[in-house]
Order: sequence, then C-alpha cells, then structure tokens
Amino acid sequence: MTRNIPVSLEINGDPHDLRVALSDSILDVLRDQLQLTGAKRGCNQGVCGACTVLVDGRAVRGCLTNAAACEGEAVTTVEGLAEGLTLHPVQEAFVEAGAMQCGFCTPGMVLATAALLSENPTASREDVVQALSSNLCRCSGYQVIIDAALAALETGVEIGGEAGA
Ligand code: FES
Ligand code: FES
Repeated sequence: MTRNIPVSLEINGDPHDLRVALSDSILDVLRDQLQLTGAKRGCNQGVCGACTVLVDGRAVRGCLTNAAACEGEAVTTVEGLAEGLTLHPVQEAFVEAGAMQCGFCTPGMVLATAALLSENPTASREDVVQALSSNLCRCSGYQVIIDAALAALETGVEIGGEAGA
C-alpha cells in the first residue's frame, strides 16, 4: 500500500498535512497514522457505528469515509470534544448517567449524539432513538444511552461549548 496522495485535514482543530493511500479510510488515518484510537474499528463494514467521527459537523462512518475525499475538511474525534479537562456536555451526560459498560461503542454514541444536538437542539426522544439506531451496543445499554443523550440535549450546548439556539 503506497501512501502517495497528499491530503490536508483539520483534525480536532489542528492542521495536518498527510499522505494517504487511495484505499485509506479516515478511520485508517486516524488510528494508524495519528494514533487517535478513540474511533473504534468494529465491523469495518459500515454497520456498527463504533467508528463514528464528525466531518464538518456531520456524523459519518469512519470506516466507510475515504480519507482523500476529506481534503480540506474538519474532522472531530472523541479526543477533540473536551476542552482541556472540561468534558463536552454530551460526555458529561454519559458519565453522569453511567451510559457505558465496556465503552467500545461509547465514542461513536457520543459523537452521534453531539451531531444530533448540534443539528437539532429540540430533538425528541424519537429523534434520539432514530439518530442512535444505527450505532450498536453489544452490552445492551440502549436505555441509559438514550437517557444520557436526552439529558445532553436539555443542556442546549453545541459542539465547541457555545450556547445553543
Ligand atoms: S467499524 Fe465502521 S461501522 Fe462498524
Ligand atoms: S458499552 Fe459495550 S458495546 Fe456499548
């Protein structure tokens, strides 16, 4: 595999000039080149959502998102959500609710929730269920995860910590 394609990305607020292979996914680049291992490689087939990251604020499957196609885009991983020692409100809500067991799905769940919160600050429980329905949790913690997501939505805080509409 030859990494011969230059790509410039903003990752968690920092610029990165990288070289990627045509077949590299953004998950490959994050985990293998940048050692950002928050996004998990679960199914690697677009099914489980463990690899969810934000590209320009949209939740995407990292394993299915071509890295070269992200040229110029802003990528946010779970490592980029907190501000120093201050957790993002979605992270805070997940901790408060105890919305994790093994934690493998948690980065993807948190980022999918953060994207929903940003896109739809008045999301209903049904919207939350719908938004998280394609993120799988093998520990069967869905109820508490949905409760945590709803608690985060009630804070009305967007990605980056600014007050929501
Ligand atoms: S690892 Fe990407 S959806 Fe499962
Ligand atoms: S907490 Fe283990 S997979 Fe969700």
